Amino acid sequence: MAKQTKDLNDLFHETLKDIYYAEKQILRALPRMAKNAQSDELRQAFEQHRTETEGQIERLEKVFESIGKSPRGKTCDAIIGIIDESKEVMEDFANSDALDAGLLAAAQAVEHYEISRYGTLRTWATQLGLTEAASLLDETLEEEKRTDTLLSKLATSSVNNQAKAA
Ligand SMILES: [Fe+2]
Ligand SMILES: [Fe+2]
Repeated sequence: MAKQTKDLNDLFHETLKDIYYAEKQILRALPRMAKNAQSDELRQAFEQHRTETEGQIERLEKVFESIGKSPRGKTCDAIIGIIDESKEVMEDFANSDALDAGLLAAAQAVEHYEISRYGTLRTWATQLGLTEAASLLDETLEEEKRTDTLLSKLATSSVNNQAKAA
């Protein structure tokens, strides 16, 4: 058997590249989702999260810096798939009263992916003694959780009711 040369530090670095790529894709997807949103609340939520996402990308660049690496992304098929599904909803449900419900569902899938990644990365950073990285990742994790909570609230209030009433 080949000698094991990779360790948790490598895994941390690889996963950091994954989420860096994912955030950049999300940054590109959010304006399109905002443009398609029918309710003002949902559009504002997407616009606000776009601004937050810019900050999250900068934070990731600081994490790379803290481990002495230059920021680089690695193709993340998971986020491509999730974003593709959101495009599908926008096409298939264009002019439908259920469009916002579909957009909300797609956006929550994105948030859940991010929460999963940031949770893992923060845990690994702590285990590796990367204190600065852990605190930066924790900051973003909390931001993603707040976004998810906001989307959940929108889902249980106006947006889905609108779809139902149609
Ligand atoms: Fe994010
Ligand atoms: Fe997010």
